[in-house]
Amino acid sequence: MNKFFLILAIVVVSLSSCYYDSEEDLYPSAGCSTENVSFANDVKPILLNSCLSCHNNVSLQGNITLESYDDVLSYVPNGLLLGSIKHDSGYKAMPQNATKLDDCRISKVEAWITAGALNN
Ligand code: HEC
Repeated sequence: MNKFFLILAIVVVSLSSCYYDSEEDLYPSAGCSTENVSFANDVKPILLNSCLSCHNNVSLQGNITLESYDDVLSYVPNGLLLGSIKHDSGYKAMPQNATKLDDCRISKVEAWITAGALNN
């Protein structure tokens, strides 16, 4: 009987940990808000974190700076900003030699562009 409860306990524990552990993987967009995305609060911090080390006014890798809103805007209509972070074919995959941005960050940048890429 003791053995039975031990096995039951193991099953319950492993099932519940399984459920909690995998929720993020199963629903990566859960908890990712793409509403009212702003340049200052959402897009800029993402670029600061993953892009500006190479694309600033001094380093200018690939002859590109993403420091100001106007700088960033010049890579929106030509699709370079989104294409590079989504690793679409025909674009240089960014950030270079690093892991792709997570889905939430990419969705936020995409939502910002869809909403008109405002300086908000
Ligand atoms: C480690 C340095 C480094 C980081 C970090 C980096 N880039 Fe780049 N990026 C480069 C280099 C170098 C090039 C030029 C590549 C080439 O011409 O082959 C480039 C090119 C680009 C281009 C032009 C792409 C094209 O297809 O012509 C864009 C747009 C760009 N980067 C955006 C970004 C964005 C957005 C991020 C952050 C998510 C980022 N980069 C992070 C080094 C970097």
